[in-house]
Amino acid sequence: MDKRIFLKSMLLLAVSALLTPLHAGADRAMSVQTTTDKVAVVYFSWSPKGNTRFAAQTIARKIDARLFEIKPEKPYSTDYRTCCDEAKPECYGKQLRPIRQVEGFDPAQYDVIFIGTPNWWGTMAPPVRTFLTNYASAFQGKFLCLFQTNGGGGMQRCGVEFAELLPGHKIFPPKAFLGSTIRDSVSDLENFVADRLSGKPRRKQ
Ligand SMILES: Cc1cc2nc3c(=O)[nH]c(=O)nc-3n(C[C@H](O)[C@H](O)[C@H](O)COP(=O)(O)O)c2cc1C
Repeated sequence: MDKRIFLKSMLLLAVSALLTPLHAGADRAMSVQTTTDKVAVVYFSWSPKGNTRFAAQTIARKIDARLFEIKPEKPYSTDYRTCCDEAKPECYGKQLRPIRQVEGFDPAQYDVIFIGTPNWWGTMAPPVRTFLTNYASAFQGKFLCLFQTNGGGGMQRCGVEFAELLPGHKIFPPKAFLGSTIRDSVSDLENFVADRLSGKPRRKQ
């Protein structure tokens, strides 16, 4: 093999993973080649503890990925009960809460996008639903992966509704993390991302 081609190929990580069988016919092996600059982590987090933010930061740090935050145009109440009341009809009604432009995020720059949400009323937080809806066509051909933090309910409908919003997309297996122990779950978070990417993508040189 030509030495230059060999060296170039060494700069790329061959990433392979099984596609989640979330919809019929989607359970076949797929692979992607990527470098760290082509992986993004996008998240929404609401609580003062920032559980999903912590998860997103840990994942991004592990693979040197860019980190982006989803923010609603109109923030939810900072009071837990009021926020729950505000979010309930939105979550059950699968409503799209308007979001601000995600600063600096250009989907064309990425091969792989991790998307993080808290579990709200059994599903993704509405700003994440809006984000996925807005970018669904721009995400065609990219590898997408949901991670979620929760108060004990686990994944519930998050993974299924994530896949519903992205029909025909390449979706890695999603993962739920318990919010209350997220700071003790660094190795679980790192294993999650390393497993989805079969290791750490190399820096572009
Ligand atoms: C409006 C609202 C609804 C929630 N609904 C659920 C739920 O249905 N199931 C669950 O396990 N946790 C639920 N939680 C708890 C959060 O998912 C959990 O605390 C999460 O880790 C918070 O992430 P954050 O710190 O990034 O906001 C809810 C929290 C809020 C504020």
